[in-house]
Amino acid sequence: MKILRGRVLTFVSEPQARDDHGSYRYIEDGAVEIENGRIVRVGAFEGAHAPDARIIDHRPHLILPGFIDPHIHFPQMQVIGAYAGALLEWLNTYTFVEEQRFADGAHAERIASRFFDELIRHGTTTAAAYCSVHPQSVDAFFGEAEKREMLMVGGKVMMDRNAPPGLCDTPQSGYDDTKAGIEKWHGRGRAHYAITPRFAITSTHEQMAMAEALAKEFPDLHIQTHVSENLAEIAYANELYPNFGDYVGIYEKYHLLGPKTLLGHCIHLTHRETEVLSETKSVAVFCPTSNLFIGSGLFDYDRQHERGVRIATATDVGGGSSYSMLRTMDEGYKVMQLRGQRLTPLRSFYHMTLGNARAMSLEDRIGSIAPGMEADIVVLNSGATPQMKLRMETVDTLEQELFLLQTCGDDRAVVETYVMGKPMKSALPA
Ligand code: GUN
Ligand code: ZN
Repeated sequence: MKILRGRVLTFVSEPQARDDHGSYRYIEDGAVEIENGRIVRVGAFEGAHAPDARIIDHRPHLILPGFIDPHIHFPQMQVIGAYAGALLEWLNTYTFVEEQRFADGAHAERIASRFFDELIRHGTTTAAAYCSVHPQSVDAFFGEAEKREMLMVGGKVMMDRNAPPGLCDTPQSGYDDTKAGIEKWHGRGRAHYAITPRFAITSTHEQMAMAEALAKEFPDLHIQTHVSENLAEIAYANELYPNFGDYVGIYEKYHLLGPKTLLGHCIHLTHRETEVLSETKSVAVFCPTSNLFIGSGLFDYDRQHERGVRIATATDVGGGSSYSMLRTMDEGYKVMQLRGQRLTPLRSFYHMTLGNARAMSLEDRIGSIAPGMEADIVVLNSGATPQMKLRMETVDTLEQELFLLQTCGDDRAVVETYVMGKPMKSALPA
């Protein structure tokens, strides 16, 4: 038995207003009791707890559910900061070149190890990741996640056109390799395989039909892809699929939409496309650092939200420029400011934790600090840097503190990251 002592914050519902105090539970001197990787009790520190428990005192820091990143590309660690213009140039000039290196299993293993180090360093305990087209990248990804006992969603990208030959599969090999990946990894430990057609542009009709067949065969799996990120991309997708009405219509006609479908970007959606996402309960994944860095556009959060579209927030590294969910929400806040929209601090922290867990249909296991949940936890220091510490002197509400963490925080604010109750950040190589 282990007890984490500190200021515990966990959400119970989506905050409806800036001061929606009913949306979260906050315990000033809280105790999170952990046994066998699970949370067994949460409450005031003063109170009943096992006399033999080991107490880890994190006061005065905040104890939150581990951050969740529902859209990230693990083979793009070495593409971050590539000096490209827009999406298609960024993909063709840098990303598709880089991802070819993952044909080499040793390279994939090295990067996978560094990838999980980085997630832990930034307080992220679960992610939905795109691997490269190569099955060995999937093995490296899930193998490394398994070593660290991390709950990960991932899959090999299926892509059979409009990319270099070294990065293309075929409709049949994409199907076979995906199926083999599912059989090898899905449900092993905490691994969840995601069917991953990269995006309509890099798949032929035959491959989209294979993705549809896989989705039918494995209806419980996540599906992840990209849609409506960039205007030139949208025009090209519509040209390649002339009789599909619009970009979302492509995935719709191949029956790839649904509550477990994670759609990266969703920036330039038409009214009809938004309605289809809403009706199918598909998830629009807002990736602000990427959308700004690649110049893709400003996600219309309020419009999607008002139409009932489920929204997640994610880094999209390496189009995204930070592994930090704090940096991500900070940029998300600014994107919304440019649209005249407001993102409250409570809603931001809801998104990083319970909101993203719900978007990934994983809320029964992660995303909150409550008895029975898996003990994936992040500990945050709001005075992590000299300037944050100085600013903290003038902070007097929890919301102000969260907003400071989001605005100025990054991996330096992450004191510790627990995975299944084990401290992982302090165990990283320096
Ligand atoms: N669309 C298709 N592939 C990608 C990718 O790797 N990153 C981003 N941002 N968009 C994509
Ligand atoms: Zn992406």
